[in-house]
Amino acid sequence: MRTVRTVSELRAALNAPRRAQQTIALVPTMGALHDGHRALMRHAATLCDVVVVSLFVNPTQFAPGEDLDAYPRHEPRDAEIAAETGVDLLFAPATAEVYPDGFATTVTVAGELTDVLEGVSRGAEHFAAVTTVVLKLLNIVDPEIAVFGQKDAQQAAVVRRMVRDLDVAVRVEVCPTVRDGDGLALSSRNAYMSESERERALALKRALEAAEREVAGGERDAGHVAACARGEMSRLGVEPEYVELVDPQTMRPLSTLNGEALLALAARVGRTRLIDNTLLRTASSKTDSTPS
Ligand code: PAF
Repeated sequence: MRTVRTVSELRAALNAPRRAQQTIALVPTMGALHDGHRALMRHAATLCDVVVVSLFVNPTQFAPGEDLDAYPRHEPRDAEIAAETGVDLLFAPATAEVYPDGFATTVTVAGELTDVLEGVSRGAEHFAAVTTVVLKLLNIVDPEIAVFGQKDAQQAAVVRRMVRDLDVAVRVEVCPTVRDGDGLALSSRNAYMSESERERALALKRALEAAEREVAGGERDAGHVAACARGEMSRLGVEPEYVELVDPQTMRPLSTLNGEALLALAARVGRTRLIDNTLLRTASSKTDSTPS
């Protein structure tokens, strides 16, 4: 595996495989790689000949006061993990390579997809910063396939919409959330938690399970299912920031479960902000959505 730091080096490295008609996959990451990332890389390798992983802690997607400075950075370990997992190229640019002097462009997916859930909690600029850097990475690598994780379900939906709206010639693949043995969704931010906080963090998974049980038992009222999940979190000592049932594609709030619904939640455990979600499926293929 080669690590490259500039756009021109990366493009040059991709010239030969492209001329040989090899397919290219991109896995965008902010590093601090864990088994969730490994699953994305492995999936990418099953689909394409060449796997590029980007490792860039994108400063613009952190709101003031968020954890940009504390965000774990372990490039040598990340490089080892990527190499072991069959990655061909690690793109680890400096901030000035991604945002040169005078950088002035933002790509925004406006409206209902971005002004709910994380868009409320982290501010509308968060997703604009994500779509801007992701489009840059797609333009730099020009992959056939880009792979994202379902843990950031709203991010995946926003990226899909950008790709559709701007006719970006890439297929977006979304891989299931990878969890620790006890059910905690893997996240680079889990490293911030103490042992006791980590225990309490299981409240998120327990809340998803409580909602899944309600739905399996026949409950179709979205408000009731969300209340159940919220109640489970509070019972385990974690105050939710949001617990919402939304249409997985549009992020529109649902009043009734009828088809596919995304139950998304966020909470702070100590100083660590965690998100998680589950897809709830009921018999019908149509969802009843209430415009926000
Ligand atoms: O999910 C992430 O790690 C980031 O939001 C991404 C997609 C790499 C963009 O910075």
